[in-house]
Amino acid sequence: MNKRLKIGVFGFGCVGQGLYEVLHRTRGIKADIAKICVKDRNKKRSIPLENFTFEKDDIINNPEIDLVVELIDNADEAFEIVSSAMKKGKSVVTANKKMVAEHFNELLTLQKEHNVSFLYEASCCASIPIIRNLEEYYDNDLLTAVEGIINGTTNYILTNMCKYQIPYSEALAKAQELGFAESNPYLDVEAFDAKFKVSIITAHAFGVFIKPDEIFNYGISSISSYDISYAREKNMDIKLVARSKRNNDSLGVWVMPQFVPSASKLYQVLNEYNGVLVEGVFSDKQFFLGKGAGAYPTGSAVLSDISAVTYNYQYEYKKFGQESRPEFTNDLEVEIYYSYRTPDELSKLPFSSVHEQYTGREYCYAIGTTTIEQLRKVKDSIPTDCFICLMPEKSF
Ligand SMILES: NC(=O)c1ccc[n+]([C@@H]2O[C@H](COP(=O)([O-])OP(=O)(O)OC[C@H]3O[C@@H](n4cnc5c(N)ncnc54)[C@H](OP(=O)(O)O)[C@@H]3O)[C@@H](O)[C@H]2O)c1
Repeated sequence: MNKRLKIGVFGFGCVGQGLYEVLHRTRGIKADIAKICVKDRNKKRSIPLENFTFEKDDIINNPEIDLVVELIDNADEAFEIVSSAMKKGKSVVTANKKMVAEHFNELLTLQKEHNVSFLYEASCCASIPIIRNLEEYYDNDLLTAVEGIINGTTNYILTNMCKYQIPYSEALAKAQELGFAESNPYLDVEAFDAKFKVSIITAHAFGVFIKPDEIFNYGISSISSYDISYAREKNMDIKLVARSKRNNDSLGVWVMPQFVPSASKLYQVLNEYNGVLVEGVFSDKQFFLGKGAGAYPTGSAVLSDISAVTYNYQYEYKKFGQESRPEFTNDLEVEIYYSYRTPDELSKLPFSSVHEQYTGREYCYAIGTTTIEQLRKVKDSIPTDCFICLMPEKSF
């Protein structure tokens, strides 16, 4: 495709406005925004009204528009928009991890059937180009693990709690004030956002797509100052870590809080930053650090995908055809720290063995072994004032 691309954008919020500015300040991109579709007719806009439409068909049915950039905040509506755009033969760039993870197979089929580009670098870790690297650079290496801090909101909250002893509710309020957390932070703090991302990352790392429902996620909303003190006494921080790790033929994928020792690269990932560690049999370990959210970092990832569409780039999903793909399992042993308030709450977590235990008047903990499958089963029955955290591991 050598002509200039005509783009139809959906959404002019944080990322949409970021993209608008980034695109206009970047020379050499052969693409122009033809129209921007938004929802609220009464909202004040920072650019002239003639740029906007409120009708999605003004973009979807416009034969001159080659590329739809989807940047709205509703995954179901986004899927409608993206699938109708592909059916009309338009390429699509999106930042919507929930939509991509929940409709992965359908979206791949649409992309294939209509031979269009469907790119979503901005959906995972914003400014860190993890998907394109997994897809292209690590296309023939034997990857063993991708692990990281892939949610800026929770990392901001945990940084404030660990470094400045700020209580959870205050740290969350601060994150909301600064725009790092949404008014309803549920998807972020309960680790759903990171779970959507790790589902996408795993597809590109190992050629295995795992439905988000099958991935164990446990968030940070029940963390207490006791847990932070336990970590700090041992020179560790608590981070929300997403992991996709191969062990011979099996693949473990989950998101949960983890104790991170000060020697780990992940310990250095602070505030709204994201950090991703990639490990391969031959390439050993690499570490990517960058801003995981925000108008410009996310806009720049969208811009890179737009540029890739100008040369007809498509993800090839080569790893999906490899014979040596690992098999996903939740039947994996893990060493867990479990903090609880009263001794009778210990039985809520099915340990196969406990090797350290403390019982105090307001705070108790046990450290022992269980499996991810067991954690998945009991997750909803664990009292909300109890907390689960993965013990530190030697890798990375
Ligand atoms: N914010 C980040 O740092 C970040 C980082 C990575 C990925 N993302 C992803 O990027 C996407 C956009 O996030 P955001 O933070 O930019 O959201 P946002 O600030 O809430 O903006 C959402 C925009 O979508 C528009 N919109 C909602 N429904 C629409 C519809 N049916 N048709 C047309 N426009 C519609 C809204 O229109 P009005 O202006 O009329 O209300 C608004 O302009 C999400 O999928 C998010 O997960 C965000």
